[in-house]
Amino acid sequence: VVVSRLIIVSNRLPVSLDGDAERGFSLRQNVGGLATAIGPYHKVHRDCLWVGWSGIDLDKYDAEQIRSIREAYARRRCVPLFLAHDEVAGYYSGFSNDTLWPLFHDFSHEAVFEPSTWGMYQHVNRLFAQALEPLVHEGDTVWIQDYHLMLLPQMLRERFPRLPMGWFLHVPFPSPEIYRSLPWNRELLDGVLGADLIGFHTVDYARNFLSSVELLLHIRADDEGRIPMTTDRYATVDAFPIGIDYDLYKRTARSTLAKAMKRGIEEVSGKRPGRRYATSLTAESNAVAEAITKEGTWWSHYAHEELPELTLARSAAAEYKPNKVVVSVDRLDYTKGLPERLKAFGRMLEKYPEWTGHVTYYLLATPSRENVDTYRHLKEQVDQLVGQINGRFSLLSWTPIHYITRSLPIKPVCGIYAAGDVALVTPLRDGMNLVAKEYLACHDGRDGSLVLSDMCGAANELTEAFIVNPYDTEAMCEALHSALEISPAESRRRNIAMQARIKARTAAQWSATFLDALGQVTNEGLADR
Ligand code: G6P
Repeated sequence: VVVSRLIIVSNRLPVSLDGDAERGFSLRQNVGGLATAIGPYHKVHRDCLWVGWSGIDLDKYDAEQIRSIREAYARRRCVPLFLAHDEVAGYYSGFSNDTLWPLFHDFSHEAVFEPSTWGMYQHVNRLFAQALEPLVHEGDTVWIQDYHLMLLPQMLRERFPRLPMGWFLHVPFPSPEIYRSLPWNRELLDGVLGADLIGFHTVDYARNFLSSVELLLHIRADDEGRIPMTTDRYATVDAFPIGIDYDLYKRTARSTLAKAMKRGIEEVSGKRPGRRYATSLTAESNAVAEAITKEGTWWSHYAHEELPELTLARSAAAEYKPNKVVVSVDRLDYTKGLPERLKAFGRMLEKYPEWTGHVTYYLLATPSRENVDTYRHLKEQVDQLVGQINGRFSLLSWTPIHYITRSLPIKPVCGIYAAGDVALVTPLRDGMNLVAKEYLACHDGRDGSLVLSDMCGAANELTEAFIVNPYDTEAMCEALHSALEISPAESRRRNIAMQARIKARTAAQWSATFLDALGQVTNEGLADR
């Protein structure tokens, strides 16, 4: 089925604005899941348009600047929407991130139900509909993305009764028992049902949506997931698990910069058999031992029992054990389970002291949604935990956790993935989680183990990973220990199986499959009409 002209609509555009009025503006490609998943389609199809929020605060720019920003976007076939400060606060930080995000991730205790942000959410969805009105032509197809724009399908449907329209949710859809607590639950369902095809990452999320429609709107779908709407239209619900641009990650992991990054990490952590670290550690430990013996002072009396440098010097001399690297890459978000994961890492150092000095954890946690209180508190909690673990277990020449709270471009990120003997991907809840797939692509079927939460969509596909309950500290500690101890042959066996799956189900295929299905349901719908 050929889609004539596609208009993609999402909260964020695939490119963001860099620079300022004085230095001039430029646009930078985003590396988020959505941008990499649909970006290639947008690039290849020269008439495909992408409509989304500009990400900038309208109040900070004058009319002339806005005009030049709009032109820069137009050259990339993007149509930016400019929102005022209070619109962003209510629609994005408020209703999207402080109400829907926690509710959809089963954090209902964090969800704020605030009529004023709900009002702003309706208002901004309407702004999107108004912006789209002059852009949509006969024969176009519109594909709306994610929880920010749940009212838009119905708003567009009122304006364009025959427009083929899809909506895809990139986060989980909660069980009806959780979903029903939202005071505006029916309005959002009605909004989404304006679309012809409604997509989720997993069959479970699709089932939750169908059950909510049945519970709250009393409409039952048929066996093919078709919900009868008006007399002449169905809204079809189905699962479309998203993938990654496999070749991009595989290729980027081999770039000079990624390799340099990987090498750097391996040297610092003592993983590289140059043994620079082991030697310096032994030398340092010997020096400590010598100083203690010479001094014969107050600290020698407990040093023999307690100073880990001494034990280490002995074991390092007796047997060299290649060091290991653990990695994780996340947005600093409470759904990602960072405190729980850190506790498990700390527990592992405590339970298996043989890892002291021998495992280094590179924790990349990119700050996100900093205008929302919950995110600020989380950052403080993670800062504290990292500090506690490093303070408790560090040796003079070894720090267990390297903690980076910045956003890094794709090349160094791939370097981090490639350096990792183990990746910890342990969200408390996650729609899909692409990090797990990106990590595997950067290892390209060779060794590298994945510890994966059973609370994310990816766990359905990556069944050969060390699957864990992210709330179970002891189980995560054991899984991490086993993943570190795994033989290269066993790790390759697992990876080859997972590799085959993520290679076959790429991002490009995901969008093609969704658009094909959308073409099909709308054609059938037209025939029925
Ligand atoms: C999730 C959402 C995306 C969102 C991304 C980053 O993956 O599904 O729609 O873009 O998080 O969050 P942000 O609020 O920075 O766009």
